[in-house]
Amino acid sequence: MMAMTKVARVTDVPPGTGKVVRAGNTVLALFNLGGTFYALDNRCTHVGGPLGEGTVEGTQVTCPWHGSIFEITTGEVVEPPARRPVATFRATVEGDDVLVDLP
Ligand code: FES
Repeated sequence: MMAMTKVARVTDVPPGTGKVVRAGNTVLALFNLGGTFYALDNRCTHVGGPLGEGTVEGTQVTCPWHGSIFEITTGEVVEPPARRPVATFRATVEGDDVLVDLP
C-alpha cells in the first residue's frame, strides 16, 4: 500500500536543483529536472551523505561528502565510491504541490 504524501511546493525546488525534504520520518532528496520531479532516499549509499544537498548537473547528482555520482532518474550509481543504487520514490505534481509515493 502506497500513500501520496505532500513533501514540498513546486516553487520550493527550482528546475535544475535539489532539496532535502521530510515526509514523516522519511528524509528524501527531491529534485526538479526541467519541471519533472524525482524523489530519492536522501542518504547516499556510501556512508549516508545528504544527496539533496548535492550538486545537480543534467540528470545526475554528486554527493557532497565524497563525490559519488548518482543518476537521479533511476538511482543508479554513475561514479563510486558508492556501489549500491539509492532508493527512488515516484513523485508527482498536483497543483502547487509535489507529492511522493511512500511505502
Ligand atoms: S557519503 Fe556520499 S560519497 Fe561518501
